[in-house]
Amino acid sequence: MSAASRVLVTGATGFAGSHLARALVTQGHRVRVLVRRPDAVPAVLRGRVEVAQGDIRDRAAVEQAVAGCQLVYHLAALYRDASAQRQAYWDVNVGGTAHVLSACRTHGVERLVYCSTIGVHGSVTRIPSDETAPFHPGDAYQRSKWAAERRMAEESPKRQPEIVIIRPAGIYGPGDLRFLKLFRSIQRGHFVMLGSGTTWFHPVYIDDLVHGFLLAGARPEAVGDMFCITSSEYLTLNEFVGRIAHVLGVPAPRWHLPVWPFVAAGAVCEAVCVPLGIRPPLYRRRVDFFTHHRAFTSAKATRLLGYQARVDLTEGLRRTAEWYAREGYLAPWPALTRPARQPPTRHWAEQPAVEEAHR
Ligand SMILES: NC(=O)c1ccc[n+]([C@@H]2O[C@H](COP(=O)([O-])OP(=O)(O)OC[C@H]3O[C@@H](n4cnc5c(N)ncnc54)[C@H](OP(=O)(O)O)[C@@H]3O)[C@@H](O)[C@H]2O)c1
Repeated sequence: MSAASRVLVTGATGFAGSHLARALVTQGHRVRVLVRRPDAVPAVLRGRVEVAQGDIRDRAAVEQAVAGCQLVYHLAALYRDASAQRQAYWDVNVGGTAHVLSACRTHGVERLVYCSTIGVHGSVTRIPSDETAPFHPGDAYQRSKWAAERRMAEESPKRQPEIVIIRPAGIYGPGDLRFLKLFRSIQRGHFVMLGSGTTWFHPVYIDDLVHGFLLAGARPEAVGDMFCITSSEYLTLNEFVGRIAHVLGVPAPRWHLPVWPFVAAGAVCEAVCVPLGIRPPLYRRRVDFFTHHRAFTSAKATRLLGYQARVDLTEGLRRTAEWYAREGYLAPWPALTRPARQPPTRHWAEQPAVEEAHR
């Protein structure tokens, strides 16, 4: 794909899509974004991207947005809305993806990069796992992402468009608000771990994910394949919250509560709130954070695409915390300076190949 290619990014008003669109602009691509609300286009992209207005569920709008593009990154998804019903996930994440795929075929798009999630594997038993792990999507969101992936896989043997699937780990970094509550509760000393905290967690820093996307869009070795994109380090939740505390200069959280009452309460809250369109105060996906093992190697992306996570976790968390503070989401801390680096706890390349999760 030449630097002057026209590239469509869906989901560009969201966290990952906005970072990706910005990186593509910086690389010299002509970038078009498909957005529902043009006023939601981030300031950093305004005037630098073409804006196509439309909903991913609207086939005609998707056709129009795709026409004339050589490369399409499909990131738009229903993701953060705990009050959404199952059908809504299906309409946006499966139906919308089908529209993108069909428009790519119609308009001769050369390559389609689809953003899935490591969540399609559910809670993994092999630590670290990889792209060959069995599929166990655990909720409506993950099932819809998996169904969309299968649509892609069915199309993949056809020559056009070339298809690449990216499965990111939990994405964090400046611009994300999903981890804000966690940072805030740790800073205020309110954080309580549900369960033992020995569950494995694997994040990916936004810049590293964008690096993975760019490789997926450019490298011939990516075609017809899927790649887990993660940071170089995975760790237990106890270690993860301890690392955030270290960055914020506060004591590591120590309090734990049993998790299963919260699983039950989450199920009840969902059953009551979701049919009424109310965001449940507690829901199972939030509790899954404490119980589902997520640890993957990006070795395949490294081998075939040359992917390397460049931002270590402490540095990534520091940048994220500083962004929260700059934006007024977090109180400034006395030494809003670089904390001393901690050695990485685990680099997947240093791990024994197979290590059974011990729960
Ligand atoms: N965040 C993570 O930890 C994570 C981990 C693994 C995979 N992923 C995947 O990464 C991708 C990006 O995630 P994110 O964290 O950037 O999510 P996000 O911030 O919630 O952004 C979602 C984007 O999708 C758009 N969208 C939703 N419904 C749409 C519709 N009906 N029509 C058109 N656009 C629609 C949103 O537009 P509006 O602004 O109009 O709502 C927004 O731009 C998603 O595919 C997600 O499944 C995320």
